[in-house]
Amino acid sequence: MGINFAVQSEGRPGLHVAIIMDGNGRWAARRGLPRAAGHRAGIMAARRIVERADEIGIRCLTLYAFSSDNWQRPPSEVERIFWLLRAFLRLETARLRDRGTRLEAIGRRDRIPEAARIAIDLAEAATTAGRGLHLRVAIDYSSRDAITRAACEAVSRCGETFPRPEQLRPSLMRALAGDSGEVDLLIRAGGEHRLSDFLLWECAYAELVFTDRMWPDFGAKDLDRAVEEFGSRERRFGTVPASAAVGGAR
Ligand code: FPP
Repeated sequence: MGINFAVQSEGRPGLHVAIIMDGNGRWAARRGLPRAAGHRAGIMAARRIVERADEIGIRCLTLYAFSSDNWQRPPSEVERIFWLLRAFLRLETARLRDRGTRLEAIGRRDRIPEAARIAIDLAEAATTAGRGLHLRVAIDYSSRDAITRAACEAVSRCGETFPRPEQLRPSLMRALAGDSGEVDLLIRAGGEHRLSDFLLWECAYAELVFTDRMWPDFGAKDLDRAVEEFGSRERRFGTVPASAAVGGAR
């Protein structure tokens, strides 16, 4: 099935969709299962959604897999999540490469377990030539941290002179959204209504879709519905509606 949606982004056509994959733990608890079972089911959901995103022509998909705040979870759960992440990369890399998907991890790399870092490096290298879906997986990611680091780098490039805001802004835009573009549609599963330090700069004009569906239950139809919902919204980017522009301001 093809879905028509207005192309809103620059560069290669298609949307940048970002997803907060929340609800794995509650999904498991409701079934009397350990949280790890929820994360395992969450990986399966991620596989389905990556495939569907590719099928319907999404340009860039950013998945929030592990936030910098997630280090506060019990070590056994953190260990399990990274084990599953490696399993995901092991299972998926060849398939992603064959589909022309380019995988990229965003977030800090200096704190993640070495085996996971190596798996990420290998998956990125294997898929680097992909010109189809750009799949970004956010790992040890904090948007505030990413913005702060981009600002520090931009300032340090200016040498002695402190940059003016109008100089800094394009540098930040390039550093944060240069390759992926800004987010068009942000989806959060799991019933909560917040951004949780995810892509704060890039989501400035994103359409937000919140669903009560727990992430492990999130399927192709849910993605299709969110994209359709996106297509039904009028994006104004701070201007007046098209009808008012034709009639003139009164
Ligand atoms: C949210 O559920 C999930 C996480 C914080 C991390 C785990 C994510 C996955 C296993 C999917 C990974 C996907 C890829 C592409 C590697 P939660 O534990 O916060 O759920 P809860 O709010 O119900 O406790």
